[in-house]
Amino acid sequence: MTDGVESAPESRRRTLYGRSRGKTLRAGHRRLVAENLPKLEIEPEAFDAGTLFRVAPKACWLEIGFGAGEHLIEQAKANPHVGLVGCEPFLNGVAAALAGVEREGLANVRLRRGDAQTLVEAAPDGFFSRVFLLYPDPWPKRRHNKRRIVSDAMIDALARVVAPGGEIRFATDIDDYAGWTLGRFLDSPRFRWAAATAVDWRTPWPEWRPTRYEEKAHRAGRASVYLTFVRT
Ligand SMILES: C[S@@+](CC[C@H](N)C(=O)[O-])C[C@H]1O[C@@H](n2cnc3c(N)ncnc32)[C@H](O)[C@@H]1O
Repeated sequence: MTDGVESAPESRRRTLYGRSRGKTLRAGHRRLVAENLPKLEIEPEAFDAGTLFRVAPKACWLEIGFGAGEHLIEQAKANPHVGLVGCEPFLNGVAAALAGVEREGLANVRLRRGDAQTLVEAAPDGFFSRVFLLYPDPWPKRRHNKRRIVSDAMIDALARVVAPGGEIRFATDIDDYAGWTLGRFLDSPRFRWAAATAVDWRTPWPEWRPTRYEEKAHRAGRASVYLTFVRT
């Protein structure tokens, strides 16, 4: 443990692919992880919808794999009446999100350091009205495709926790992942693709702010696909 921070416990531990920590945390981020994460972290084993936020929000949104949290923090700032839940296994990203929460004085953010599937499986039925899945790790090699966060199991789990009429917002710069995701959601009778025209999937949502990975992808000349799936 180079950071002196233990890995997040998971009740039903699944194999978690990808990095869970990077460079040694600087002192300020270590303090945030030690002092603020315990106050903000959701324990899947004790997921209590009633006490998650100090003031009951009008809606709850989830961001899966928030990276360094820029999008999560912007959403929380722009939507003070919404409770934002963010899930990310990468410690350095969690620390960066904690810094954003403190800097902006946000009371409507709760975090989970760990696997999103475990958190989703612990959430109550219909708890979320919006879920962001932005630039998930592509795992482009065919033999690694099964590591993708979008899977039939995840779609089933999301179908339970997303309220009817709620939506999944998915973005990627990897065409193969876009096709993979579209195929899986179209196979689910509990979601419908909200595209009305052929250009919709190249057009971001109205209040969109590019994420760090989107900026990186566009700098490298890769275009994005934006898919919205509505819970039927
Ligand atoms: C390519 S990055 C994208 C980060 C951010 N959404 C963005 O667009 O800048 C994918 C993120 O998903 C996270 N991730 C990977 N597996 C995950 C899982 N099982 N549950 C939650 N997040 C996960 C990674 O740690 C990483 O931060």
